[in-house]
Amino acid sequence: MSASDIVPVVAIDGPSGSGKGTISRAVARRVGWHLLDSGALYRLVALAGQRRGLDPDDRAGHAQVAQKMAVAFGSAADGSEQVLLEGEDVTLGIRSEAAGNGASRVAAWAEVRGALMHRQQAFAQPPGLVADGRDMGTVVFPRAPLKIFLTASAQERALRRHKQLKDKGSDVSLPALSREIAERDARDQTRQVAPLRPAPDACVIDSTDLSVEAVVGRVLELGAARGLWR
Ligand code: DC
Repeated sequence: MSASDIVPVVAIDGPSGSGKGTISRAVARRVGWHLLDSGALYRLVALAGQRRGLDPDDRAGHAQVAQKMAVAFGSAADGSEQVLLEGEDVTLGIRSEAAGNGASRVAAWAEVRGALMHRQQAFAQPPGLVADGRDMGTVVFPRAPLKIFLTASAQERALRRHKQLKDKGSDVSLPALSREIAERDARDQTRQVAPLRPAPDACVIDSTDLSVEAVVGRVLELGAARGLWR
C-alpha cells in the first residue's frame, strides 16, 4: 500500500482555463492540505528538455528529464509561490503559452507520464492532498475519496486565460488564444494515454456562471459530506 492510498486526496481535473488552479489552491489553503499542480510538472519537463537542447520528438530523452530533473515548489521572500528548476527560478517561464503547448505535447507520451507517476504520488502527505490536473482522478489517484471534474464553456475559459495573461503583462490576442485552447483541449482529450475525461465517480461542476467562492464552497461541502473535513 502506498502513501497515496492512506493519505486522503481530493482530485480536481478539467480542461485548460476551467479554474482548477485557482480552486485547488483555495481549497488546499482553506483545509490546510498540500497542493499538487501536476500541470507544472509537465511544463517543467518541456522547459527542461528545451534547455538541454533535446530534439522536440525525443520521447526517451524527455522521459529521462522527467525522472531526473531537480524541481522545488516553495515560496519567495514576499510569500508568493515559486518554482525552481535545477535551482533556477522558472515561476514565470513555465506559465507562458509556449510552455503550456510544449507541456501538452510531452504529456501525450506514455514514457513521460510513467516517469512522472511516482513524483506525483509522493505529494500525498498528511494531512491530505489537493491534486490539480487532467488525470488525477482517473490514473494517478484512482482511489481518491473525492473527485471533481471542473468545466466551463470554451468561450469563458479563453476569456479567463486572456485576463490571466494580460494581468501578467503578456499581450496575446483573444482569437489566437481561443484557437490554441481548442487545439490543446483536442490533444488532451484524444491522446491514447490518460486522455482528459471525468472519472466515472467524479462530481462534475460547470463553473461558467459561478464565482470562485461558489465553486470553492461546493467543493468544501462535498468534502465535508464525505467526512474529509468539518
Ligand atoms: O494545467 P496546465 O495548463 O498547467 O497543464 C499543461 C499541460 O499539461 C496540459 O495541456 C495537459 C498536460 N497535463 C496532463 O496531461 N496531465 C496532467 N495531470 C496535468 C497537465
